[in-house]
Amino acid sequence: MIYQTQAAFPDGFLWGASTSAYQVEGSWDSDGKGPSVVDMLTHPAGKADFTVASDHYQRMESDVALFAQLGLKAYRFSIAWSRVIPDGDGNVNQEGLNFYRRLVDTLCAHGIEPIVTLYHFDLPWALEQKGGWLNRHTIDAFVRYADVLFLALGNKVRFWLTINEQNTMILHPGAIGTPPGRELPDKKSLYQQSHHMLVAQAQVMQRCHQRLPEAKIGPAINTTSMYAATCRPEDAIAAHNWETLRCWSFLDVAVHGRYNALALRYLQDRGLAPQMLPQDTAQLAAARPDFVAINYYSTATIAASRGDASDVAPRAGDQQIMLGEPGVYRPEENPYTAKTPYGWVIDPVGLRLTLRKVCERYGLPVMITENGIGAPDTLAADGTVDDGYRIDFLRQHIEQIQLALADGVEVIGYFPWSAIDVVSTHQGYAKRYGFIYVNRHEQTLNDLRRIPKRSFYWYQQVIASNGHQL
Ligand code: BG6
Repeated sequence: MIYQTQAAFPDGFLWGASTSAYQVEGSWDSDGKGPSVVDMLTHPAGKADFTVASDHYQRMESDVALFAQLGLKAYRFSIAWSRVIPDGDGNVNQEGLNFYRRLVDTLCAHGIEPIVTLYHFDLPWALEQKGGWLNRHTIDAFVRYADVLFLALGNKVRFWLTINEQNTMILHPGAIGTPPGRELPDKKSLYQQSHHMLVAQAQVMQRCHQRLPEAKIGPAINTTSMYAATCRPEDAIAAHNWETLRCWSFLDVAVHGRYNALALRYLQDRGLAPQMLPQDTAQLAAARPDFVAINYYSTATIAASRGDASDVAPRAGDQQIMLGEPGVYRPEENPYTAKTPYGWVIDPVGLRLTLRKVCERYGLPVMITENGIGAPDTLAADGTVDDGYRIDFLRQHIEQIQLALADGVEVIGYFPWSAIDVVSTHQGYAKRYGFIYVNRHEQTLNDLRRIPKRSFYWYQQVIASNGHQL
């Protein structure tokens, strides 16, 4: 065994927690906010929608005070594009922008580093109606929107994330939801959208470096290591196929500025390759992130394709539940790992492995911008929430980060999902992740009171001891 001794967390390590705008804010149409694609979704019967969410827009100051009590050194949140520019590419809504100015100021006043995600699934609806990411105009709109934020918040925000989980939006669009009456886009359109996002991201990274030479910016991808189901060489190839297509193909373009060779052949062979304008290649090549952000929840286990429909699992997939693709890979069960109540594989060691891979592939600092366990937490009669399973989950992952630090990986921050309970992307409110319980249910809002869970007090001590007391 090598490096079984955990390294200490460095001084200045960004102990944080994450949320995203549409999952936490509510006030979906207040103060001039325009609708976004997620506001137009239909929700499964009985599940929460995003109109009120956790009411953070109305309770921001007191929420941040709780984050300060938790001891957060940093807080990762996203900005709702359509709050700042209601139609995506027109006038700036100063009231919307002011909310984020106040949020950043409040965080800074508490000594909490703001980490800003520019775009987390919530494309302005007006842009979607013009073709969304299929329309190259959205590239320009995104660059302009990012520039508005760099100018407005750049004096206080040092860390920026471009696009949250582009790979989830492209590979699992159903998990993010599809507006009513619309079919999921076909694969060719999705890869064209993806190309436009990559070009937009490259331009935004460049713009950030020009405007804010001291700032750091990077992509945030859902990164899931794939294990071969057996030592059969064909299983190893299949695991490599899917890990490359699902994860590295997105990060390779962001970091190396060019398409991954295997991924490009996959697209070309299937007639899925995006149309690229001559200037795109130069723009991709000209940009480089300062760090790589990963959202890590689980690993998956992969076997060789049988080459027919039996490769495709007879169940609903999502960002962590793999479906299979004939000719590419087939999902398998992992007998060595447990699962969350929602069927996501729990694999702390897989985080260490994933961190090693990101480090050796890109040689950049790594920020873990999401990691956590969704569970139906309950408020006990005595007013407490005992989420011991969340403490176990996070402790085991933090231990693996310490091992990765000993391996030589430069991990600069850890942001469990989520700082406070939020609405899940597609599984309602009962699937909770937060350190802070919000007293509401799927459709009953109750008083939306905030109640620190047991994990809150545990994480408080982890942060206060810089990871010594787990
Ligand atoms: C990540 C997303 O994929 O997973 C978050 O970036 C999301 O937005 C998180 O909430 C947990 O997933 P879910 O589907 O349980 O909300």
